[in-house]
Formats: sequence, structure tokens, C-alpha cells
Amino acid sequence: MIRFGIVGCGHIAAKHVEAIQNVQGAVLQALCDSDAERMRPWAEDGIAAYLQYRDILQDPRVDVVIICTPSGLHADMAVQAAQAGKHVVVEKPLALTLLDAERVIAACSKHKVKLAVVHPNRYRPAIVQLKKMLDEGRFGKLSHASVKLRWNRNQDYYNQSPWRGTRAMDGGVLMNQGIHSMDLLAWLMGPAVKVRAMSATRLRNIEMEDVALAVMQFADGALGSVEVASTVYPNNLEEEIALFGEHGSAVIGGPTAHWIKYWNFASLDKQEALAFVEHTHLNPFGEPGHTHMIRDMVEAIRDDRDPHVSGEDGKRALQMVLDIYDASVNQRSSEEQLISL
Ligand SMILES: NC(=O)c1ccc[n+]([C@@H]2O[C@H](COP(=O)([O-])OP(=O)(O)OC[C@H]3O[C@@H](n4cnc5c(N)ncnc54)[C@H](O)[C@@H]3O)[C@@H](O)[C@H]2O)c1
Repeated sequence: MIRFGIVGCGHIAAKHVEAIQNVQGAVLQALCDSDAERMRPWAEDGIAAYLQYRDILQDPRVDVVIICTPSGLHADMAVQAAQAGKHVVVEKPLALTLLDAERVIAACSKHKVKLAVVHPNRYRPAIVQLKKMLDEGRFGKLSHASVKLRWNRNQDYYNQSPWRGTRAMDGGVLMNQGIHSMDLLAWLMGPAVKVRAMSATRLRNIEMEDVALAVMQFADGALGSVEVASTVYPNNLEEEIALFGEHGSAVIGGPTAHWIKYWNFASLDKQEALAFVEHTHLNPFGEPGHTHMIRDMVEAIRDDRDPHVSGEDGKRALQMVLDIYDASVNQRSSEEQLISL
């Protein structure tokens, strides 16, 4: 049995508890939260509950620590877990700076522990198929990719925890929600080599952005466009990822990018494409992504291999977010220079 401990027992911890319960070979051993109330829903006989992080790290029965605390705490906690010899699952984002992401990767490598970053969207059935079509070369030469995240996070969401929307502990919609789209984009297209962007804080009372737009170019010359917002009235409207190439076009959308909206490839005739889409839509949500991630960690430890979503993957998604942040700051300062001229 691989024994898991969870630090940070807030909203997302529930998905990890459920995932551990669903994976054979995984067991929940311990919880940790600085607020005892937060652990209460899952505290049972046999599950240790710690108020101090150092105490869960000292528990020899814990093999893997899952870090579900506010994002600004991820890097230090992950480094400490590695130093204590625990394997690490970190909720996204891996860290808030590249330097911190590299610190985590280096510590896990030095102490020979596994590191996985939680980007569960990769396991959605439609996304799995998209990656497969790309790997099989069915798109041919790509012209461009596009991601849209038109969601709603209202002011109550930002007010419910003081860390949300802050520069030091969270970031804005791009770092928090948009990073999943950035992970998909980087996974499918590789890192961006040029980025132009603008961001703004329009409707929410937060320190960071609630809307961001960017265009980019990838190493092979293909272009990408990004639109992310937490301001869309009144609810989540669309999460979309689309790829366009010389022999194929694919658009996956719906409120949470589970639904194939368009699937047309020169290598599939109309009937084949339709059958393929119908098959994927029989179970569009599939098994929860968090369950895949916990199972992957159990297998990575057992088989002594890297987890499928590695520290380097987490760093690549973070890099894309930070590139967009940098580009939007540069855009703003060059406009200010123009105005002052
Ligand atoms: N992968 C996903 O789809 C997904 C979804 C939601 C959130 N997240 C990520 O999960 C993290 C947590 O988000 P959330 O919505 O669950 O937040 P939350 O505010 O609901 O929970 C955070 C918990 O951490 C605890 N905590 C804070 N400091 C601590 C410390 N020093 N030691 C121990 N416990 C501490 C808090 O008491 C709280 O219970 C964030 O990084 C967020 O980006 C990921």
C-alpha cells in the first residue's frame, strides 16, 4: 500500500480523498491543516490529523504528501517534503516563480522522490483523443491553436479565502484557472517562443487580473491564441481548446472542455469521424482526473518511473503563464512610454 497524507484540507482536498479511496493500492494515512475544523470531515480512526506541517513530515507511515494549500505555499512545502524523503503531489500551480519551480524539481531529484503536478484535464477522454490525433500526425502541419476559458468566479469566491487573487499567494485568473489551459497548450504545442499579451482587472476587487488575452508563436512557427476570464456573466460559459492543421481541425468545448464540437480529419471519412465522436461522448467525463493522478503516483513509485505529469510539465505550464504576465506588463510600459513621448 502507498500511504498518502494531505496538507491543506480545503475545497480541492475532497477530490484527493475521493481519489485515494478509488485507487487500489492507495490509502489515506494522515491529514494536516492549520485549521482543525477543516480536517473534521475526513478525520477518522486510524487517520492522523496534524496541525503542524512538520509533524506530518515526521510521520514515518506517510509515503506521499499531497500539497493542497494556497499556491504561494506550494514551493516551500514541496521542498520540505522532499527533504523529509516523501514523494510529492503538488496541486497546480507547481510554484508562483520559475526559480521556486526549479527549487522543487531540484530537491525532489536530489532526495530521489517522485514529483507530480496536478493537471487533471489531460485525462479527459476528448483531450486524450486530441493528443493521440496530434501524435499520430493526423493534423499535418499546424497553423494555430486556440484556448478560451470564459468562466465566472464572482466576488464571493474571491472573498471566501483571503489568499485568492493576491500576487503573493495566488495570481489572477490566468495563474489559478487558466494554468490548466496553459498546461494543455504547452503539452500539445511546446513552449511559446514569442508572446504578446494584455491583462486587466475589470470586474473583481482583486490584486491580480480577472481577464487576460494573449497571442503567441511556437517553435515550429504555428500561432496560438489565449483568452481567459473569471468575469463572464452569470456562470461558466465555455472552456475550449482547438487545433487547426493542413489535414485536420478539432474543437473541444462546453463549459469544461469535455465535448467534441468539431472533429474533421482527411484521414477519417465522415462515418468514422462520427462514430469516433459518438464513442467519446458515451462517457465524456470519464474517470475523475484526480483519480488518474493518484493511480499514476502509485504506479510511478511501484515501477520507479516519472509520473506522467512531472515537475518539468508543471514548470512549462507556469512558464507560459509568467511569459503572458511579463508580456502584458511590457505592453503596458511601452504604452506608457508612448504616452509620455
Ligand atoms: N487542480 C484543480 O483543479 C484545482 C482546483 C481547485 C484548487 N486547486 C489548487 O489547490 C490549492 C488549494 O485550493 P483550495 O480551493 O482547496 O483552497 P482552500 O482555501 O479551500 O484550502 C486551503 C487549505 O489550506 C490550509 N492551510 C493554509 N495554510 C496552511 C499551512 N501553513 N499548513 C497547513 N494548512 C494550511 C487552509 O486552512 C485551508 O484549509 C490552490 O493552490 C489551488 O490553486 C486546484
